Amino acid sequence: MNILLLGSGGREHAIAAKIAESPKCSKLFIAPGNPGTAQCGTNATLKLDDFGAIAKFVKTNDIQMIVVGPEAPLVDGISDYFANDKTLHNVMVIGPSKEGARLEGSKDYAKQFMQRYNIPTAAYKTFTKETFKDGVKFLETMNPPYVLKADGLAAGKGVLILDNLEQAKEELSHMLNDAKFGEASASVVIEQYLSGIELSVFVLTDGKHYKILPSAKDYKRIGEGDTGLNTGGMGSISPVPFADKAFMQKVERNIVIPTVKGLQKENIQYKGFIFLGLMAVDAPDGTLSPYVIEYNVRMGDPETESVFPRIKSDIVSLFEATWEGELNEESLEIDDRYAACVMLTAEGYPESYRKGDVITGLDNVKDSIVFHAGTKSNENKLVTNGGRVLCITTLSPSLPNAILQSMQAAELVKWKGRYYRRDIGQDLLKKML
Ligand code: AMP
Ligand code: GLY
Repeated sequence: MNILLLGSGGREHAIAAKIAESPKCSKLFIAPGNPGTAQCGTNATLKLDDFGAIAKFVKTNDIQMIVVGPEAPLVDGISDYFANDKTLHNVMVIGPSKEGARLEGSKDYAKQFMQRYNIPTAAYKTFTKETFKDGVKFLETMNPPYVLKADGLAAGKGVLILDNLEQAKEELSHMLNDAKFGEASASVVIEQYLSGIELSVFVLTDGKHYKILPSAKDYKRIGEGDTGLNTGGMGSISPVPFADKAFMQKVERNIVIPTVKGLQKENIQYKGFIFLGLMAVDAPDGTLSPYVIEYNVRMGDPETESVFPRIKSDIVSLFEATWEGELNEESLEIDDRYAACVMLTAEGYPESYRKGDVITGLDNVKDSIVFHAGTKSNENKLVTNGGRVLCITTLSPSLPNAILQSMQAAELVKWKGRYYRRDIGQDLLKKML
């Protein structure tokens, strides 16, 4: 079959590489793609918010399946657009309906959903401009640190964690009364601070059945030792060693099953990925308990770059079964090895960064996989074209080895101002001792 993958980052390169391995895939198109995805299929110039142009491309190229990488087209309703058109409704769109995508598009919606199904998450209340004074009173009843979240999508910047009550009140006012994050902060969720270790767990669901994909840990801050500004993600490790069988059973029982049942009960069309952003919190009995920090309705980036290389099963078969509602009939085989992914970024990232620097040394990388994120071909040269430029993933039975090899490979790839965190995975290694 012919497949169209939407997106252009490292996540999409990792997904494209897996799709291209499938004997079921005749032609793969990636829109808009990047020079890495061009090694797996054909890049196509399409805007992800122009569903009409995507539909035309699908018809012209006899596309049978669309895999949606980022959240924006899902939140904008791409699945519904295809489902509601008689000439397009047979196209298998892997990604939830607009209603399902609200799990990511609105924090308040996600919190209410979790509350309805007793899914463990931080206690919270939601406030608007009209209830600003109640919000201030609610803050006064809480202990620091104070967690304020813009309800809507705010380009990953809508969460503020503050130690000081006066500051928290001021920020609440900026968000509600001065539209600090525009429409996204017209409602603000104030929630209890959870202390623990964060990790991500990914689920593929057809709306009734599900497969739990490997866990991964993301490194969000720019600086070593988790310091400095937040980024899109500086590296990832899969699986997370402390997410052992007992922990993953709790994730399944307390989170995955009630989430999928809730979607089903509410008749929400959901054929796609669920990304559980979790906090592993110390439980009184000395074990770890998972709490949901957030839902996303797509795969993570750079988690995909460590999770997808570990999937041994045919991903296109899994997607077909997702569409057909027969995911229970598929098996999911996972490579036991660890994957360590390190992200190489442009000078200045995550603030304003340089573009157009010539990348060298890629041919020197032998035993690791290079995924392109923000690169561009320019007169037969590969140049930087984004903040996150390339990521390097190594698979190894030993986590220290996987990390070391990715670091060694990262050192071989160069451009002016190239940066990467040298401590990816070190916290996990320490915990394993
Ligand atoms: P989110 O956009 O909801 O993922 O939040 C961004 C980041 O803020 C998360 O990755 C966590 O590091 C942190 N965070 C969010 N909610 C909480 C919470 N209730 N307790 C502690 N940290 C949180
Ligand atoms: N790595 C976090 C995300 O994709 O949102």
